[in-house]
Amino acid sequence: MGVSRRDLLRGAGGLVLGFGMGGIAGLTNGMAAEPQTGAALLPWPYKKLDVDAVAERGYEGYYKGACCYGAFEGIVGELRKAVGGPYSTFPTEMMVFGEGGVAGISTLCGSLNGAAMTIFLTTGGAEKGGKEKAFALIRELFNWYEQEQLPDYTPRNPRFQIVRSVSRSPLCHVSVTNWCKASKVKSFSKERAERCAWITASVARHTAQLLNDNAAGIFKAAHAIPASEQTCRGCHDQGGVLENTRGMMDCGGCHFTPKTRHPKV
Ligand code: HEC
Ligand code: HEC
Repeated sequence: MGVSRRDLLRGAGGLVLGFGMGGIAGLTNGMAAEPQTGAALLPWPYKKLDVDAVAERGYEGYYKGACCYGAFEGIVGELRKAVGGPYSTFPTEMMVFGEGGVAGISTLCGSLNGAAMTIFLTTGGAEKGGKEKAFALIRELFNWYEQEQLPDYTPRNPRFQIVRSVSRSPLCHVSVTNWCKASKVKSFSKERAERCAWITASVARHTAQLLNDNAAGIFKAAHAIPASEQTCRGCHDQGGVLENTRGMMDCGGCHFTPKTRHPKV
């Protein structure tokens, strides 16, 4: 027909009103995807950030919109100041979705979720070869989170003092539970919220450090997948004799003792 949906919307306001929702949806079906003419292509420009300013903004952000929002806003808020441009119109508020491992479901730690998005936004893309650098940075961040004693950043005006723990997992559920064990504090207490605010600050800060290193051309992964996990993956992951699962999380965090019939490893 040679008439795009946009032409219709622009050129024939009265006509469009007459279509109703069903009519528009019907016309759109089968057409090529609309090009994103207004969107800034990835990667968005990055400028070296003050990692402590990112941490403080992440900490404050936690008390406004929780972990995912805090980590994302920690970095994107500082980029809004330093770069402006597309960052000025990004609705960071949407990152509240990631709270408590997505809507409190306790899957992926929200601070990791928000931070991974900032990494992809500033270093990634869908073009061929566009994701490798971003994925390398994200994997380093996740391995660091799984293996280190965290939180490793103390906010300037903390509400409580917080003990450290090792999560052994990128999951909110495991991370929170291991901290509750270490601290003997309840999972819905104010202290636990403060712990996650510190975690948010720590993750945002570490992410900014990785992005700074990447921008300076000196990024090098410092945390490898544990050898025990590599052994498991050797049989169970891509290319293994079984190839019946996939994962780059510490297997031992959930499979404490594989059961009967399991080969000696
Ligand atoms: C040498 C190859 C090999 C390695 C290494 C290996 N597995 Fe397995 N795994 C197997 C085989 C074979 C089975 C049995 C499959 C069946 O019976 O269907 C199995 C079964 C399992 C099962 C299901 C049954 C059970 O025992 O619970 C789990 C879970 C599992 N492996 C986890 C792991 C983890 C975690 C590691 C690393 C600590 C690991 N595997 C390392 C070969 C391997
Ligand atoms: C977040 C927890 C978690 C982590 C981490 C995890 N798994 Fe699992 N895995 C599960 C659950 C839950 C199931 C399904 C229930 C079951 O069979 O135990 C499962 C199932 C499996 C099975 C199939 C078991 C069967 O009955 O045949 C294998 C094999 C397995 N996982 C291997 C791995 C390996 C290898 C890793 C590390 C790369 C890993 N898992 C990491 C939770 C986890």
